Amino acid sequence: MENQVSGIFSLKDKLALITGGGSGIGFDIAQCMLAAGATVVITGRREGALQEAVAVLGASAHYIVNDVTELDKLEALVAEVETRFGEIDILVNNAGINLKKPALEVTDEDFARIVHTNLNAVFSLTRACAKRMVARERGCILMISSMAAYYGIDRVVAYAASKSGVEGMVKVLASEFSKYGVRINAIAPGFIETNMMRTAMSSDPDRMHKALDRTPMAKFGKPADIGWAAVFLASEAAAYITGASLPVDGGNSIGF
Ligand code: NAI
Repeated sequence: MENQVSGIFSLKDKLALITGGGSGIGFDIAQCMLAAGATVVITGRREGALQEAVAVLGASAHYIVNDVTELDKLEALVAEVETRFGEIDILVNNAGINLKKPALEVTDEDFARIVHTNLNAVFSLTRACAKRMVARERGCILMISSMAAYYGIDRVVAYAASKSGVEGMVKVLASEFSKYGVRINAIAPGFIETNMMRTAMSSDPDRMHKALDRTPMAKFGKPADIGWAAVFLASEAAAYITGASLPVDGGNSIGF
């Protein structure tokens, strides 16, 4: 798949750090960025899964075992990536977890756990990378948001709150970082076929039909659909795009 992309969309000589890149959407973001010429470093909690992932991704893919929820280790993660592989050009905050439960049953611990992974960790890692990007006056940060930040999906209150927080963060940080040449954008995936989506839908056929019925393209997305959008937003072709949230959703967010 390597070197499929050239010209203004190319990520040649760029280094991308992708959290949760061993599976699902993160894996395909890594694969698409590699195809665009980047070197990628994926992180995750399970070494075996990361080893298997880089074996498939190829020689320009590397891994570091890291749990994003351990906030005090994120500065060290960024330092390790830069010492071993070079300056980070692209950060993709992809790692995330979901919880499907009626709001009245969500405990404070449940809520805190989701927000800690999907929002607090995203801020800490973004700050650690952005310090260096701002000093170098270049860099690109991508957040993976969700339709849950766009409209009211029932039984995902903590997840929706976390992703809405991410959307707010994108706008503020775009305002603060633009003068330093650092861009920050979100991709809001619609319903994409991954383990997370299958878990949320498998026991709930009504939800699955509802999602499809309001998707004008009438099909679920593939992880690579998000991967190619990430390549575009990280490339020079998107040089004037910052503070945006791009739905990649088959029209789900505007469906009737
Ligand atoms: P997934 O469950 O297949 O992958 C999530 C990845 O994050 C896994 O590799 C997992 O190991 C990693 N991860 C989770 N907690 C972590 C932690 N504490 N430290 C390091 N890595 C951790 O899920 P999927 O679908 O690929 O999700 C990726 C992102 O896309 C998430 O942020 C999710 O919220 C978002 N998303 C997914 C949608 C879908 O339809 N699949 C829709 C909208 C958003």
